[in-house]
Amino acid sequence: MPATAIYESMKVKLHNIVPELELAYKAEIAEQINQLKVQRNAIILGHNYMEPALFNSVPDFTGDSLELSRKAAATDKDIIVFCGVRFMAETAKILNPKKTVLLPAKVAGCSLAASITAADVRQLKQQFPGVPVVTYINTYADVKAECDICCTSGNAAQVVESFGTDTIIFLPDEYLARNVAQETGKHIIFPSHQPTGKFSNDLDYQMIGWHGRCEVHDRFTVSDIENIRTHFPDTVILAHPECSPEVVNASDFAGSTSAMIKFIETTDKPRYLLLTECAMGDNIAAANPQKEMLRLCSVRCPHMNEITLEDTLQSLQLTQYVIEIPEDIRVRAARSVQRMLEI
Ligand code: 13P
Ligand code: SF4
Repeated sequence: MPATAIYESMKVKLHNIVPELELAYKAEIAEQINQLKVQRNAIILGHNYMEPALFNSVPDFTGDSLELSRKAAATDKDIIVFCGVRFMAETAKILNPKKTVLLPAKVAGCSLAASITAADVRQLKQQFPGVPVVTYINTYADVKAECDICCTSGNAAQVVESFGTDTIIFLPDEYLARNVAQETGKHIIFPSHQPTGKFSNDLDYQMIGWHGRCEVHDRFTVSDIENIRTHFPDTVILAHPECSPEVVNASDFAGSTSAMIKFIETTDKPRYLLLTECAMGDNIAAANPQKEMLRLCSVRCPHMNEITLEDTLQSLQLTQYVIEIPEDIRVRAARSVQRMLEI
């Protein structure tokens, strides 16, 4: 598609969100990316948190972590360009060892993935021998390699329940763990908040959590919700399960990024407030112009924000940044990811 056509199609959706001059410039870059994508037999996967011009121009597929993992597992292209953060690109590599997986930014981290190491998991396994370990997909490959199964925000409770054991370790997101514990009726403890060993013989728990937090979702509070309910009582409030249980309980709906998008698309309410990363609010507003999206923020994920159209073009031009995972780690991490995909 020529740049003029990309520009026109972006203008229809994004005229209230991105200045027209910027759209024209971004459409030129998007045209080059789309040409190179064909020449290099590449697929571009775009997370729901990508900025509006990128989200609406170059990805072959957009979605949440679970949907994009499935797309990565199914592709027959030679190159996967992951417009998301590093742990997502790593998951694509774990599933596709023979393909080139590119992350357009050098770092693009995540506060949850940074909160735990493989050594931490090994220590927990020593402390709670024989207890199955579930890890949120927001972790690096070496952590996934130490765990029994992965989950995403879209299937966390289902994964936990699939074990049917008395006790389960759930890492590393404290809030997601608390939300899943609440949903599955389990009592949760956090040994990392306590002196080592304190809980090892205490059977008054069914879930063992960790202290990781998403630096974006940690910022939403119950008083944000109360303010909105006071001033705009007809607003439907949606929260990501990386928000605290108090925030989730005070909201009307909680789910993965794609579950929130589907909820808004399939309900007919005048106003919505999204308690999640703010580029996604722009993307939903662009796709649903008849619905009002209230803005609380800007709470932009600084890691997702590292991925730009310019970097995506460079990524394909220079084959950068290539995701590499040592094969012994990849094989063990793949077991965790595949087990999740089979559920
Ligand atoms: P989803 O799997 O819901 O897309 O979430 C990923 C993420 O990092 C949210 O902060
Ligand atoms: Fe990580 Fe939070 Fe950013 Fe998602 S929004 S990538 S969990 S820091």
